[in-house]
Amino acid sequence: MTEISRPDSISPAQKLTLPELQDRVGRGERIVMVTAYDAPSARLADEAGVDIILVGDSAGTTVLGGSSTVPVTLDEMLVFTRAAARGTRRALVVADMPFGSYQVSDDDAVRSAIRFAKEAGADAVKLEGAGRTLSRIGAIRDAGLPVMGHIGLTPQSATLLGGYKAQGRTAAAARRLVEEGRALERAGCFSIVLEAMPAAVAAEITAAVSVPTIGIGAGRECSGQVLVWHDLLGLLPGPPARFVRQYADLGATIRRALEAFAADVRSGAFPEERHTYGMPEAERQRFEDGRVTSRRG
Ligand code: KIV
Repeated sequence: MTEISRPDSISPAQKLTLPELQDRVGRGERIVMVTAYDAPSARLADEAGVDIILVGDSAGTTVLGGSSTVPVTLDEMLVFTRAAARGTRRALVVADMPFGSYQVSDDDAVRSAIRFAKEAGADAVKLEGAGRTLSRIGAIRDAGLPVMGHIGLTPQSATLLGGYKAQGRTAAAARRLVEEGRALERAGCFSIVLEAMPAAVAAEITAAVSVPTIGIGAGRECSGQVLVWHDLLGLLPGPPARFVRQYADLGATIRRALEAFAADVRSGAFPEERHTYGMPEAERQRFEDGRVTSRRG
């Protein structure tokens, strides 16, 4: 297991600022991002020294059990974000804007982003794609909210991309991704997620932009890395994807604990005397004699 180290420059009580994030990358420190969707998980991530908590629309699959991120709604994402923000003190909380909350127009995108800041306490929002997303990013930024970009495999458009597969594997596609990275920086992103692309392409994008890149399935040469909570902690069935390192098997731990609870309930081993409330002996006597009821009646 990797030993956890925190940069000395970070005080656990202070909210990380965007300039600090940028400075840390300048000093060669890597950024740590993890998804979280509720207050206790966000608190644990914050206490562990994670820099950015992403309330990913992956909640649509990991938490809500869907088969893609497309159906998760703005209202659902607001609930997850509010909970995660309540559990966070130092880390930046980035809310993932769900499909449908920013595609139609810049005005729509700004309205949705403002809800994340005002109603849910997000520090920033994340949008997928380049192209038309560029003008949404500019509009949200102009409204005063920092924006994280996301290129490569963008799950909201997985069908268009031919499924959940690595992007940028031809020279032309790789070039396009580098251009998209540059365009996202020009549009005003403070950071860019690079998902599922060859390490060489992610390295080239990281060198081509001055804002931090956060990789997932994009190799080591990014400014930081992100993993999905349930993947990292082993909470999903089946083997993890190629780009995941699983740091714990909490699924098995939780299952064992639940099996032990069920066995104790069925055998009567739980609850014990120390788990129950008593009452003064005299009151118990009166209760058992039925005096309390007869006095009322
Ligand atoms: O929704 C999510 O969890 C994400 C990460 C995979 C970057 O977008």
